[in-house]
Amino acid sequence: MASHNGSAEDLRIPPVFWGLQHNPEAAAVLRTLVATASPGDARNPWFIADNLITFGHTRGFLTDPRFVAAVTAESPSAHELASVWRTHTLCWAAESALAVPGDFVECGTYQGYSMSVVLRYLDDLRGRRCYLYDVFDPSGLEVEGARLPAHAPELFEQVRARFRRWDNVVVTRGLVPEALTAVAPDHIAFLHLDMNNAQAEADALGVLFKRVSTGGMIVFDDYGWTGDRAQKSAADAFMQSRGLAVLELPTGRGLVIKR
Ligand SMILES: C[S@@+](CC[C@H](N)C(=O)[O-])C[C@H]1O[C@@H](n2cnc3c(N)ncnc32)[C@H](O)[C@@H]1O
Repeated sequence: MASHNGSAEDLRIPPVFWGLQHNPEAAAVLRTLVATASPGDARNPWFIADNLITFGHTRGFLTDPRFVAAVTAESPSAHELASVWRTHTLCWAAESALAVPGDFVECGTYQGYSMSVVLRYLDDLRGRRCYLYDVFDPSGLEVEGARLPAHAPELFEQVRARFRRWDNVVVTRGLVPEALTAVAPDHIAFLHLDMNNAQAEADALGVLFKRVSTGGMIVFDDYGWTGDRAQKSAADAFMQSRGLAVLELPTGRGLVIKR
């Protein structure tokens, strides 16, 4: 396990960015910046990854032994590791949600990376259950958003196997929102919406928002991305109608604390 003063096991973040195939000028600038700044070391003042460039921030999570251990235990791909700041915001929200009653829910689980890190980070959900939803294999379904490389008929069983080490995780295969009518908790402390699908996320909120406890955390994975404006619009409209506003985080995530 890494130590706070920066051991060899601190997270080294690969400078992976998204959408650069449409923007060769930005790609060229980034290559120069990466070559000059040499990011990736927790002690380096630059953070250059996941379309986020910062200088001089402490990024304490990169040397937090509990967080580093949770991430490394899940053997992240370069893309997963690049989104480490996002992953940390999710861990923070999940841990904060332990202060209020309710279960944990993620709509859009894919291979289960993010919630595996969260569960390792928390270690103990204090008697709560964690409900995960995905179609896992969108073949033949009209599901908005790009098909992802690991989608396959066997992905559902692979994800169930990934979470088998926790006896309080319920993995459900099916389309959201329909799948929520079959299996869903009555009280929710933490809700992660990550379906790259504005309509499905709005529909999920329609079913689940009233079940989120006061003080519960709602995290929108793709809220702040220019390529996903429909998700931002849907989240804003839903929250504004309830007198709430979504906090846009520099990571691209959106955060609401239910009042
Ligand atoms: C970006 S991935 C989720 C990544 C995952 N949360 C993580 O961080 O590791 C989005 C997932 O949403 C799922 N999805 C999209 N629309 C859906 C819907 N209506 N119902 C269920 N799953 C859906 C896709 O199958 C895909 O696996």
